[in-house]
Amino acid sequence: MMVINTINELKEKIRFWKDQSKQIGFVATMGYLHEGHLSLVRESKRSSEITVVSIFVNPKQFGPQEDYNFYPRDLNRDRNLLEKEGVDLVFHPSVEEMYPDHYRTYVEVEELQDKLCGKSRPGHFRGVCTVVLKLLNLVQPDEAYFGWKDAQQVVILQKMVKDLNIPTKVVPLPIVRDNDGLALSSRNTYLKPQERQAALVLNKSLDLAARLFSQGVKDASLIKQKMVELISTEPLVRIDYVEIIDLQNLNNIDKLEGDALITLAAYVGRTRLIDNIRFISGGIEK
Ligand code: PAF
Repeated sequence: MMVINTINELKEKIRFWKDQSKQIGFVATMGYLHEGHLSLVRESKRSSEITVVSIFVNPKQFGPQEDYNFYPRDLNRDRNLLEKEGVDLVFHPSVEEMYPDHYRTYVEVEELQDKLCGKSRPGHFRGVCTVVLKLLNLVQPDEAYFGWKDAQQVVILQKMVKDLNIPTKVVPLPIVRDNDGLALSSRNTYLKPQERQAALVLNKSLDLAARLFSQGVKDASLIKQKMVELISTEPLVRIDYVEIIDLQNLNNIDKLEGDALITLAAYVGRTRLIDNIRFISGGIEK
C-alpha cells in the first residue's frame, strides 16, 4: 500500500492506472477510521479494481468554534487498518498541499447546503463540496463511496456531481452501528461513559419512528412529536433538529411516503451527533 502526500505523486499514479483502463473506487475520509469507513473500503474493494482512500481533516468544513484542532487523528492506526483491507493507495496531503496560499475557489450547492446541519454549521457543506470536488478531480474515480450516516452530505454530493457533470458515481452505503445501536462516528470518542449511554436515546427514537410507521402512522408531525418526547426524557441530550423530509430536495413533508428521511442532530454534552433512518420505496433502511 502506497501512502502519498503530494498532488503530483498522486496524479502520476492515477495516470498510470488510467492508462491501463483500471476501474478506480474512492473513499474520502477525515481519518480515525472505524467500521463505517471500512465498510466503504470493502465495497470499493468488491466492486472496483483499484481502491484509493484519502485521509484529510479538511479545515474548510469546520466552523471557527468547532472541533478542527481536537478532531482525533492517528495515521499509524489508520494506515494499518487500510493495509489489512488491501487498499492500493492512501492520499494524506497537508493543508498547504490542498489549500496553498491565496486559495480562492469554493463550491456551493445552493439551498440544499443551508438546510438541516447547514443551519447550525454555516459554511460546512461549502467546505465539504470544495474538498470532495478537488479530490474527485485528482483521483478521477469511477465510483466514490459515502456513508448514509451523513445523509445530507450524500444528497448534496449527488447533486454536485450531477450539476457539474462529474463522471463519478456517488454510491451511498448503510450506516454501521455499534452493538447497542449507536451510529459509528469518529466523534463518539468525545463521549464520556454517561453521555454515551444517554446518546442511545437517538437511535431509540428512530426505532420508535420505524415502529410507528410499521403500525401505519404516516403523519410526520405526530411521529416527530413522539420522537422529541422520547429524546427529551434524556437530560444530557439537547436536540438541534428532528425533521422528516423528502430525500430528493430535503424539504419537510407532512406525510411519510415516497423516498423520505427522518433525520436528527443533537448535542450530547458538548458533542454534536447526527443519525437518520431512510424510507425508500416503502422499505425502512436504518
Ligand atoms: O464525511 C466526511 O468524513 C467528510 O465530510 C469528507 C467527505 C471526507 C470530506 O472532508
